[in-house]
Amino acid sequence: MKFDILTLFPGMFAGPLSESIIGRAIDRGLIDLRLHNIRDYAFDRHRTVDDAPYGGGAGMVMKVEPLYACIQKVRADRPDATVLLTSPRGVPFTQCLASNLAGRPELIIVCGRYEGVDERVTELCIDQEVSIGDFVLTGGELAAMVIVDAVGRLLPGVLGCDESAYDESFAQGLLEYPQYTRPPEFKGHSVPEILLSGNHQEIAQWRRRQTIIRTAIARPELLDRAALSKDERELAEQSMELSNVQ
Ligand code: ADE
Repeated sequence: MKFDILTLFPGMFAGPLSESIIGRAIDRGLIDLRLHNIRDYAFDRHRTVDDAPYGGGAGMVMKVEPLYACIQKVRADRPDATVLLTSPRGVPFTQCLASNLAGRPELIIVCGRYEGVDERVTELCIDQEVSIGDFVLTGGELAAMVIVDAVGRLLPGVLGCDESAYDESFAQGLLEYPQYTRPPEFKGHSVPEILLSGNHQEIAQWRRRQTIIRTAIARPELLDRAALSKDERELAEQSMELSNVQ
């Protein structure tokens, strides 16, 4: 899959995307990631990329001309690209959106900065504005890295066969059950007996219950859309009541 990232700070990407699973996927050619410096498309003497907002107000706005020129240049080589803008105003970035994007051949991610981006960039070039959460970052670069990481790991061959993307948190709209590895006891905390039993059916049942309990406590709103049996709904309600008491 091809990722093109348009940013004023290409240097921010070197560490996070060159290590570990995504770094390996880039080395193996499964991910083709290119960085484009928006400032290279500012043609005035001072290479200006931002300006004061019309109507007044705090902060600076990213100018339309350099961004438009940069997006057009990159798009010319990426006819099938979906163009995203990272912004706290965007639609929430979820596992569902990550899997949807993982099915596209080309993604262009424009990193917003300052107080925002001239709205005409969005009107003319952007398919979707995406937010990684209800908080404000200093810029969209970290958000773009989050998107590359979450989308990249879903691409065929990126995770090894022992690193499953199926059984994890959000894969079925719920949080993942707790995991343990050796030793069986550490500082008085034991691994649940059932996980040592070798009984795969009972382990699967225990994990399903844990998934429901965890989700009910930490993210109860996820249960509204989950397919739960009557017993599972009861377990969820009991867990929510207990967590409210504590
Ligand atoms: N830029 C600033 N804050 C952001 C957020 N929460 N998500 C995406 N891009 C951002």
